[in-house]
Amino acid sequence: MLYKIWLIFFFVSATVSSSSAWLDEYDFIIVGGGPAGLTVANRLSELPHITVALIEAGGDASTNPNVTSVDGFTTALGTSIDWQYTSTNQSHAAGQTIAYHSGKALGGTTTINGMTYVRAEKSQIDSWGEIGNPGWSWDDLFPYYLKSEDFTYPTSAQLSSGVSYVPDDHGESGPLKVGYPYGLLNGSFHTIVEDTWEALDLPHNEDVNGGSVRGFTIWQSTLDMVANIREDAARAYYHPIQGRPNLHIFLNTSANRIVWKKMGGLATAAGVEITSSNGTVSVLNCSREVILSAGSLRSPAILELSGVENPSILEKYGIEVKVDLPSVGENLQDQPNLSFVYSTNSTFNGSIVYVAYGAMSDFFSSWNSSNLNTTSYAEIVAAANNNTVSAESLEYLFNIQLNLLKSGVPNAETVMETSLNLGLGPSGFLLSAFWLLMPFSRGSVHINSADPEAYPSINPNFFLVDFDLDVQIAIAKWTRKFWGTESMKSLITAEISPGYDILPQNATDYQWATWVKTAVTANSHPLGTCAMMPKELGGVVDEKLKVYGTANVRVVDASVMPFQVSGHLSSTVYAIAEKAADMIKETL
Ligand SMILES: Cc1cc2nc3c(=O)[nH]c(=O)nc-3n(C[C@H](O)[C@H](O)[C@H](O)COP(=O)(O)OP(=O)(O)OC[C@H]3O[C@@H](n4cnc5c(N)ncnc54)[C@H](O)[C@@H]3O)c2cc1C
Ligand SMILES: *[C@@H]1O[C@H](CO)[C@@H](O)[C@H](O)[C@H]1NC(C)=O
Ligand SMILES: *[C@@H]1O[C@H](CO)[C@@H](O)[C@H](O)[C@H]1NC(C)=O
Ligand SMILES: *[C@@H]1O[C@H](CO)[C@@H](O)[C@H](O)[C@H]1NC(C)=O
Ligand SMILES: *[C@@H]1O[C@H](CO)[C@@H](O)[C@H](O)[C@H]1NC(C)=O
Ligand SMILES: *[C@@H]1O[C@H](CO)[C@@H](O)[C@H](O)[C@H]1NC(C)=O
Ligand SMILES: *[C@@H]1O[C@H](CO)[C@@H](O)[C@H](O)[C@H]1NC(C)=O
Ligand SMILES: *[C@@H]1O[C@H](CO)[C@@H](O)[C@H](O)[C@H]1NC(C)=O
Ligand SMILES: *[C@@H]1O[C@H](CO)[C@@H](O)[C@H](O)[C@H]1NC(C)=O
Ligand SMILES: *[C@@H]1O[C@H](CO)[C@@H](O)[C@H](O)[C@H]1NC(C)=O
Ligand SMILES: *[C@@H]1O[C@H](CO)[C@@H](O)[C@H](O)[C@H]1NC(C)=O
Ligand SMILES: *[C@@H]1O[C@H](CO)[C@@H](O)[C@H](O)[C@H]1NC(C)=O
Ligand SMILES: *[C@@H]1O[C@H](CO)[C@@H](O)[C@H](O)[C@H]1NC(C)=O
Repeated sequence: MLYKIWLIFFFVSATVSSSSAWLDEYDFIIVGGGPAGLTVANRLSELPHITVALIEAGGDASTNPNVTSVDGFTTALGTSIDWQYTSTNQSHAAGQTIAYHSGKALGGTTTINGMTYVRAEKSQIDSWGEIGNPGWSWDDLFPYYLKSEDFTYPTSAQLSSGVSYVPDDHGESGPLKVGYPYGLLNGSFHTIVEDTWEALDLPHNEDVNGGSVRGFTIWQSTLDMVANIREDAARAYYHPIQGRPNLHIFLNTSANRIVWKKMGGLATAAGVEITSSNGTVSVLNCSREVILSAGSLRSPAILELSGVENPSILEKYGIEVKVDLPSVGENLQDQPNLSFVYSTNSTFNGSIVYVAYGAMSDFFSSWNSSNLNTTSYAEIVAAANNNTVSAESLEYLFNIQLNLLKSGVPNAETVMETSLNLGLGPSGFLLSAFWLLMPFSRGSVHINSADPEAYPSINPNFFLVDFDLDVQIAIAKWTRKFWGTESMKSLITAEISPGYDILPQNATDYQWATWVKTAVTANSHPLGTCAMMPKELGGVVDEKLKVYGTANVRVVDASVMPFQVSGHLSSTVYAIAEKAADMIKETL
């Protein structure tokens, strides 16, 4: 009987929450329903007396086959669930503009990403604490990586296809399903690739998710192995709790700007101005906090539209300065992505998720850390950002980054894919995409209009610092060396992109540089635009992720990471958001 009453209650409240009966006031308003926003929404709404509104510009993509499929993720790129941004002209990359993909749906970019689940290197997270963020180290974050994860153990077929793992590195009771694709290529290819890397002195890595990334491995993916479906953030963190009456999701709704209370002292948010799908503009009120989780390319833009920014930028658009915080949108770090494509007469009837992570000494034979001049790099970057972040701060940060490189943190990633990975059938070609992991170049994201619908200017500033170009070229040569080994050569018929006519095997440094600058694409790992750092260093949020100069605005998403990481971003975004939710709960 009690059970039935509970069921009726549950049904009624579920109905209420999915209808759009707005509350006069919510405790928390979260902007953005990607992995960060949905994680925080889930954890805060565990408290039944706390009300949470989450605003998402996109719709529900849970039945979109481009999302659910575990193969060929690139089919979703350029469709309606991709914001389809474009970078500014890249003056150090042949003047070209570069496509920036970003998810626009409940689940955010995890609805369109490559599903790779690889965490950061231990010392990279430790460096966050080292620059003045108490409470942030690998040991602080690792429990949250585990808390978010629900690891599915590999099948015996997957194990015989080369999968290896360390059980202690995985959580088994979190919301996010992590596993291996059923369609993993079997046969001898895995052994050939692993042996080839070993012959190049790159060891096998049993599991890249324990804080030590270097080596060759088969990575884990964010997928539901049993259902054979992509595990995006909505499926992991929202579907299981969507009946909660205290969590209201506003789909197809854009957040325009924060609305402030008229008070002295710290800027205090009263709510968020939104535009509903029918074009109506209204204000959602909050009693506690606004949490921005719109991602690295939009959270800084929303702060700027709300008057938290560099006065010289806001003046141009007639936006009233609420908080003078020039570093908003600076420190953008992304990785330059290139690839080699090889035709093959063999059939590779399976997808592969093979990766090789190399430290500087693995791929850069002439690497000598004393040739790096971080003073000069800091001057170049500060000049490019009009000294918004000072050369002094940058040099301090660059020296920490340099120490990571010296200590052997991976700075190269090279991943292999079959044509099947790209949804193009079992034969035809193999490719290797590769990128520099920790660039010194820094760019920015800024608004260029007071209209919240207008896209921000995105400038990753690829190859602003020459050293990044040298590293990217060294990684390219390392990757081609791999394909030039006897074992790999015997599997391929030709290099079809770029090919030896464009990039001869004896290419000069000039030819390499020209190719890298013209063929580069973005690796879609933007971060740092609301960096968690002391304010004097150019930070936007403090170690509690609170925006400097505000009483109750936090940023929780990829934009708070102060440095690039060797893993892919989503695993670390989930962990940061889990930690953030605990920090917020402590204040309740
Ligand atoms: C093509 C591609 C491939 C990738 N591959 C991988 C991979 O294999 N593995 C991996 O770990 N990472 C990968 N990434 C990166 C990873 O997916 C992102 O770093 C991660 O999703 C960032 O999470 P987030 O919560 O910070 O932001 P997002 O996931 O981008 O979520 C932000 C959300 O905010 C919404 N939003 C933005 N502005 C507004 C507004 N004004 N009002 C309301 N809502 C708004 C957006 O629609 C979006 O839903 C890839 C990224 C791309 C683009
Ligand atoms: C927000 O609060 C104001 C008064 O402070 C009120 O007029 C308005 O209706 C509230 N908004 C909503 C959506 O309830
Ligand atoms: C949101 O927009 C999508 C695509 O335009 C549409 O299919 C969907 O019905 C909309 N959802 C809501 C809740 O308005
Ligand atoms: C899936 O992607 C293809 C292009 O790759 C596109 O034509 C199709 O409309 C997309 N489907 C949906 C439901 O968006
Ligand atoms: C960007 O490059 C294009 C093509 O080279 C050029 O037409 C355009 O003027 C450039 N824009 C800026 C702002 O420099
Ligand atoms: C490889 O997988 C295919 C189907 O996925 C299966 O038919 C075949 O028997 C497997 N081969 C081996 C050697 O396991
Ligand atoms: C537009 O949508 C909002 C939110 O669903 C609703 O409150 C409002 O009444 C709608 N306005 C019009 C003119 O339809
Ligand atoms: C691959 O196929 C091409 C054309 O069919 C043929 O000329 C070539 O000899 C084959 N190469 C190998 C390595 O089998
Ligand atoms: C690839 O494997 C699938 C099933 O695993 C099978 O149906 C298909 O025939 C295979 N294709 C080739 C070219 O071997
Ligand atoms: C490093 O760069 C700075 C600034 O450009 C310069 O003054 C200094 O001489 C350089 N140091 C070395 C060792 O080249
Ligand atoms: C550069 O900074 C100066 C002083 O802070 C400011 O007056 C100027 O407008 C800035 N220029 C640009 C292009 O932002
Ligand atoms: C590269 O090799 C080609 C063909 O063997 C030769 O013509 C060319 O001069 C060489 N280029 C360099 C830079 O050595
Ligand atoms: C880099 O580019 C390749 C295609 O050239 C793509 O498959 C890969 O997913 C890109 N890397 C990331 C991290 O998205």
